[in-house]
Amino acid sequence: MEKTGPSSTQGATFLVVANRLPVDRIVREDGEVDWKTAPGGLVTALEPVMKQRGGAWVGWHGAPDEKVEAFEHDGYTVEPVPLSAQEVEEYYEGFSNATLWPLYHDAVAFPEYHREWFDAYQRVNQRFAERAAEVAADGATVWVQDYQLQLVPRMLRELRPDLNIGFFLHIPFPPLELFQQLPWRRQILEGLLGADLVGFQMPGGSSNFLRLVRRRTEHKVERDRAIVKRNGHHECVARAYPISIDSKSFSDLAQSEETKAEAEALLEELGHPSMIVLGVDRLDYTKGLRQRVRAMGELFAEGKLNPDDVVFLQVATPSRERVDEYRKLRDDIDLLVGRINSQVGGVGRPPIVYRHQSFPRSTLAAMYLLADVMLVTPLRDGMNLVAKEYLACHTGRDGALVLSEFAGAARELRQAYMVNPYDLDGMKEAIMHAATDTTQNKRRRLRSLKKQVAENDISKWADRFLSDLDDHGQSPDKAKALGDNSPSLIFTDGE
Ligand code: ADP
Ligand code: F6P
Repeated sequence: MEKTGPSSTQGATFLVVANRLPVDRIVREDGEVDWKTAPGGLVTALEPVMKQRGGAWVGWHGAPDEKVEAFEHDGYTVEPVPLSAQEVEEYYEGFSNATLWPLYHDAVAFPEYHREWFDAYQRVNQRFAERAAEVAADGATVWVQDYQLQLVPRMLRELRPDLNIGFFLHIPFPPLELFQQLPWRRQILEGLLGADLVGFQMPGGSSNFLRLVRRRTEHKVERDRAIVKRNGHHECVARAYPISIDSKSFSDLAQSEETKAEAEALLEELGHPSMIVLGVDRLDYTKGLRQRVRAMGELFAEGKLNPDDVVFLQVATPSRERVDEYRKLRDDIDLLVGRINSQVGGVGRPPIVYRHQSFPRSTLAAMYLLADVMLVTPLRDGMNLVAKEYLACHTGRDGALVLSEFAGAARELRQAYMVNPYDLDGMKEAIMHAATDTTQNKRRRLRSLKKQVAENDISKWADRFLSDLDDHGQSPDKAKALGDNSPSLIFTDGE
């Protein structure tokens, strides 16, 4: 991937601010610098929005201790924010991914609380806010993304009261009973309240947030908004905006001759099984992989699925590999898959084909095209875009989506075969139901699911959010009335 540059945004009127940039800077073995698509649903969702709207994307380029100049990419400007190796450890791997990530996902792993991690989180959030403040034109719209940057809205408002500030949380927002564990709960709430509009995946997220604001801050809450009185006053509206994908571009990709040829080759490689069961995930403990592999292993061992005829293809893109829980998960899955494959089936192709790798989107599309049964079984997930990608890509008329009740997508994709991933027997039954249901039933469900995804795509999501932000955001007059503000927002105490 070639980058044109250097470049610098002179007053962007639209900005996305996210921990990740759409591309990661990597140094290949021969010392050459290259850029690679960054992992995760946030990038999948926001890339087409930026391509369409232009503007600037402020974020980290994925490599520690490196300063990179701004550059042009796909019709918008990329503004890299540097992180030191220690900040990566404390802000990204620590507070973001070993404190907030497990806490916000039902505490399915134990959240760790360390004061120095939060200090780093504040410092890095301040840096992102400062960069956004430098780059934004007068009265610009700034859209801050996800749990890594929850302090940015308030910091940015202090620096630039003229901006329209939106925030979207891509992961679940936890209930009061869990969130209250966080020693820095008030700072996080005040950080988010700096936005004019805070978006959540589910209505439950916005009501959890408003309930916490009522309980834990002095701001008044009325219906779907908090009245924030500080340096003048503004209203912070909280609503749900279930995110989606660029459905058409996924389905066009799946329909291309290249993808069809790739699917043929893959089918050949897998030995033309009569059924392909597929899992596609970031290797994350929230995705329910241990439970899923165990369920499939038992179905093979019990002979309910014939290992000579059925293949379970699971691909998992490497993720957060220096965080302990992720290392443990990687070892567990390697062990579990190895054990099942050594015990079940003949001497040919193993029943579980597992690849701990990232694949190009066209290869994923080929896999979606082939999958008779798609397993999306997280223990908890903000949305889970993989479920929607399958529906956009799968054109075979009788595919089946097995979906966890604990994925945000379950609220919209009601015709899926629903499972509780904590209930192993229930999950096995649902997988068998999906695998053996009548063609007529499968087609009926799939038709309605595909329609949902085609009609509710990423541009609709972005339009809804941004038009609400326009309605509720700062008018230039209001901004003037707020006057000059002090930029210092570093908290020193716990509450
Ligand atoms: P999250 O945001 O937690 O990673 P999502 O399901 O919303 O979860 O998004 C995951 C994104 O990562 C999807 O766009 C999916 O296509 C992509 N992805 C998952 N596994 C792989 C893989 N093995 N190779 C390449 N991309 C992957
Ligand atoms: O919302 C899901 C998310 O956490 C994004 O914020 C993130 O960019 C993506 O998953 C992948 O994780 P990471 O950026 O830590 O590799």
